[in-house]
Amino acid sequence: MQVQGAIALVTGANGGIGQYYIQGLQAAGATRIYAGARNLDSLKDIAAADPDRIIPISLDITDEASVKAAVEAYADVTLLINNAGVGFNQRLVADVNFDKMRSEIEVNYFGMLRMCLSFAPVLAMNGGGAIINMLTVLAKINFPLNASYCASKAAALLATQGIRAELASQKTLVVGVMPGTVDTGMSKDFPPPKVAPETVVREALQAVVDEVEDVYPGEQAQEMQAQLLKDPKALEKWMAGILSS
Ligand SMILES: NC(=O)c1ccc[n+]([C@@H]2O[C@H](COP(=O)([O-])OP(=O)(O)OC[C@H]3O[C@@H](n4cnc5c(N)ncnc54)[C@H](OP(=O)(O)O)[C@@H]3O)[C@@H](O)[C@H]2O)c1
Repeated sequence: MQVQGAIALVTGANGGIGQYYIQGLQAAGATRIYAGARNLDSLKDIAAADPDRIIPISLDITDEASVKAAVEAYADVTLLINNAGVGFNQRLVADVNFDKMRSEIEVNYFGMLRMCLSFAPVLAMNGGGAIINMLTVLAKINFPLNASYCASKAAALLATQGIRAELASQKTLVVGVMPGTVDTGMSKDFPPPKVAPETVVREALQAVVDEVEDVYPGEQAQEMQAQLLKDPKALEKWMAGILSS
């Protein structure tokens, strides 16, 4: 589908990559952009840049009532961008914190899933449309210093595949975006290389146009995907080695 003329909804639009999605959608000619955030005040500047097209909306993806209200109010959506996510840099054994682990699962897995399932009928009604799910290449291989986040994104990746299979019959394209480290606040404690959020957004939106299902923006993600295809065990061992280095 074309992004030009799309009616898009972006979750976590006040955050790092979310803001770039809003700009990318503007540049690509989206007709209307619903910018979602838990705190409406945090969207003031973003909406002020293009008030005719950017509509700030209150949306907490872990809150059933909040999502239901969005479905009812924004039933013209044709492109759903599930960008919101959390990561607490938790190891599994050394940092046992079930509250943080639950929060990662609640936002990254259940929140994304809730948005997909809730908006699926809307997309069907509007001709099929597309969903972009912000995953990570670490959904495919565990990075032990951020292990519980990786596990939550692995669940999100498998859910993305399941949703893709089920929504094929209503002609909804489901795109999974799997960058390595992206240069935003979430990765401030991580070393380079980091892919620019603009690149992630550009490649994700282009995948919608080209009907590509799996996107690996940046060299780091592409190299990891190549290694995963060639020798996944070697990559797992290399990742594990980071703990002792
Ligand atoms: N940065 C990276 O290295 C990287 C790499 C691969 C994938 N990703 C993924 O890319 C996406 C965006 O990441 P980012 O780097 O832009 O992170 P970020 O700067 O921390 O932004 C995260 C966004 O998610 C929102 N959010 C969190 N919980 C929410 C909830 N319950 N309901 C609605 N919104 C919620 C946050 O809103 P509040 O301001 O209200 O907290 C914020 O807008 C995430 O899914 C992340 O996992 C990031």
